[in-house]
Amino acid sequence: KALLQQDLAGDQVLVVSNREPYIHEKAADGTVKVRRPASGLVTAVEAVMRACSGTWIAHGAGSADRETVDKNDHVPVPPKNPSYTLRRVWLTEEEEKGYYYGFANEGLWPLCHIAHVRPVFRSSDWEEYVKVNRRFADAVIKEARTDNPVVLVQDYHFALLPRMVREALPKATIITFWHIPWPNSESFGICPWREEILEGMLGSTILGFHTPFHRKNFLDTVDRYLETRIEPEASTISYGNELTQVEDYPISIAWPDYPDTVPVDVCRTEIRQILGVPQDHLLAFGVDRLDYTKGILERFQAVDRMLEMHPTMVGKFSFVQIAAPSRSDLEEYMNFEQRVRKLADKINDRYGKDGYLPIILKIEHHDQNELQRYFRASEVCMVTSLHDGMNLVAKEFIAARDDEHGALVLSQFTGAARELHEALIINPYHIEQGAEALYRGLTMPSVEQVERMRSMRDRVRRFNVYRWAGHMLLDAARLRKREKVMQKI
Ligand code: G6P
Repeated sequence: KALLQQDLAGDQVLVVSNREPYIHEKAADGTVKVRRPASGLVTAVEAVMRACSGTWIAHGAGSADRETVDKNDHVPVPPKNPSYTLRRVWLTEEEEKGYYYGFANEGLWPLCHIAHVRPVFRSSDWEEYVKVNRRFADAVIKEARTDNPVVLVQDYHFALLPRMVREALPKATIITFWHIPWPNSESFGICPWREEILEGMLGSTILGFHTPFHRKNFLDTVDRYLETRIEPEASTISYGNELTQVEDYPISIAWPDYPDTVPVDVCRTEIRQILGVPQDHLLAFGVDRLDYTKGILERFQAVDRMLEMHPTMVGKFSFVQIAAPSRSDLEEYMNFEQRVRKLADKINDRYGKDGYLPIILKIEHHDQNELQRYFRASEVCMVTSLHDGMNLVAKEFIAARDDEHGALVLSQFTGAARELHEALIINPYHIEQGAEALYRGLTMPSVEQVERMRSMRDRVRRFNVYRWAGHMLLDAARLRKREKVMQKI
């Protein structure tokens, strides 16, 4: 963290993302509540911004935002201990519909995640996407106090913005991080605006993905659809006069400092009381946005199968799923919610008696403290994404277990599976495998839990989010230096 601050001393840092780190919402009694959205991106980038300060430009989405803070677009955050500025860009309904719901979440999101949901591409959405990228680029340009700020562009909402900023601020250091997977070139090729997207991204100085696999897919895609010079060894792409360094930077979390954490035995007791289950009840836990990429249905099927294969668990074990509603204006997401509810009901009907519920489903937002308690109270955490850039829930669970207990069941299709080898790695499409892993986690001997957990904790502690940001910024500093030398020659 200190090194990061040192690296950036004197540089202006501007972050651009769609999702804002804080949402101001009006409660029924008229008071304004501040909430953190469920987003892996926010979890990671917020920690970095707290450390290095600067300005975060984001889409103002919360319903009360406009009324409460529009007098002053620049809001100091975090509310209790301000260390950077949040600058909102207000979008019209039409812009939000086309850019966010449409092109970003019906087009790019399913395009990049292999979850068998067909991407939808509409020209009208694309037009809004271009327009909104321009609006955010203008906000960056307006916020820039020097001709060479460090601009950190986040995710698939802003593929065109790097080039737009580059044109206005040729000396800026633009670091773009793609938080979701990048598919193979053939899959990406169905996007009607593939060239525009690639050209836009190549306005970046550095382009980051979570894994070498996604990085390689990107290089192949550029190779296939654009006239560029690629140096595979150096992992650079020259396009026109510009050079983009393409790297993999696995994202992480800020390692918690523990003084205020509630002891594990207290969490265990309280959570079981809240759920109304006996104190010796076994619990497995999952928390995700309610999204079809997260493998929630497959997870429920694995629970079902586990109870079928191990009937001694019936009545003694429950699976708790917290699902934060997300993008619920989209039909695909509404249907998904129905399917999740229906399957939970079916399994509960099958095994439930005398108030016993094998699946406890809570479709609502939970704050970080509450989630910590669930993490600490559960025997097992299940992450079964069908495809995921990284998945920070897996790392949050590991970080929450300072008692070195608990088992993690983890999908092999997450970026996290490349780092957390000691998890019980599964293919979420293989229901029996998921069921067996869950059972194994619930019955894992204490010594084995400690051994696995210790090793995973050690890794997450060392490769934390400051390292993620630090690596990108160090690479950026190196490129800036090289540029200066080249100019002198
Ligand atoms: C993923 C994306 C983020 C996004 C988050 C939440 O992690 O990579 O860009 O913010 O999901 O989704 P939402 O649409 O609610 O912002």
